[in-house]
Amino acid sequence: MTISNNADFIFHMRQLPFLESLLITKKIIEPHLYDFVSQATGHHQLRDALIHSTQGSGKYIRPHLVMMFAESNSKTAIDVGCAVEIAHAYSLIHDDLPCMDNADLRRGLPSTWKAFGEATAVLAGDALIPLAYEILAALDLAAETKIGLIAPFSRVLGGHGLVGGQMMDLFPSSNINDIEQMQLLKTGELLSFCCVAGTILSRGLHSSQETVAREFGLKLGLVYQIVDDLLSLCGTSEQTGKPVHNDDDKITFVTVFGVEGSKQLVQTLGDELYQLSQKVGLEANLGQLVDFVVHRAH
Ligand code: IPE
Ligand code: IPE
Ligand code: MG
Ligand code: MG
Repeated sequence: MTISNNADFIFHMRQLPFLESLLITKKIIEPHLYDFVSQATGHHQLRDALIHSTQGSGKYIRPHLVMMFAESNSKTAIDVGCAVEIAHAYSLIHDDLPCMDNADLRRGLPSTWKAFGEATAVLAGDALIPLAYEILAALDLAAETKIGLIAPFSRVLGGHGLVGGQMMDLFPSSNINDIEQMQLLKTGELLSFCCVAGTILSRGLHSSQETVAREFGLKLGLVYQIVDDLLSLCGTSEQTGKPVHNDDDKITFVTVFGVEGSKQLVQTLGDELYQLSQKVGLEANLGQLVDFVVHRAH
């Protein structure tokens, strides 16, 4: 598919069933991502590990969100999409390590530590973090806008974001507020960055839409994680490409509300997400995405 300009791109994407539009995002992002990671090191084994961890059957939901909120397939939107996917890939490499979730399967393939050894997997994750920053620093944008992207990116990945959420996952609490906070930090914050970054690209810094974009991303993260936990309990590894029942000892929404209660919660949050997408006038782009996320566990 060749789409010449941004208006054509968004118009075309809106006409498509969600999975097709997600596949188009993947086709756009994948070659750029490949170039970034394959040029990130001269060491062949590290390079192979970086390629292994970023290619394959990933859904590329995060770059898709960036492009949908940016309403664009510009080089800048693609590069921001690659940066968030690279940060996501690092988080999964480390998440799968024996000292974390001890998962030997990711996207239907051996996880990075299983394929390349633990030390290489740790270093592959380490290499991806600065690579994401390098891509953001090189964006063809005003310095102020780049800082306006890099500052929240740092925050969502750090101790007040993904890493903080992963710590809460390691030392769980059965308090429902703590469980919600854990899911928001480990999954919601990066998703919300994707929505906010896309909004910054389409409307500039500090637009009134940023708050709704952030709220949308956080809530999406909550639904996403509840569905993922439902699939880990009730799905198959053919379906998920990951080990199932690997996290049965963890405390999640599913532990507290049970399977049916959690499905009901997913439905309620899905309705709220749809209303938020209407608030930013993006329901045509995002409505199907919400449906996809909500129905993955049904
Ligand atoms: C998996 O994320 C980790 C969670 C936040 C639940 P994705 O479901 O986006 O994984 P890929 O990238 O598509 O494999
Ligand atoms: C993954 O969380 C979230 C991050 C890597 C930050 P999980 O451990 O719940 O996700 P899966 O099931 O391994 O993808
Ligand atoms: Mg985990
Ligand atoms: Mg895990």
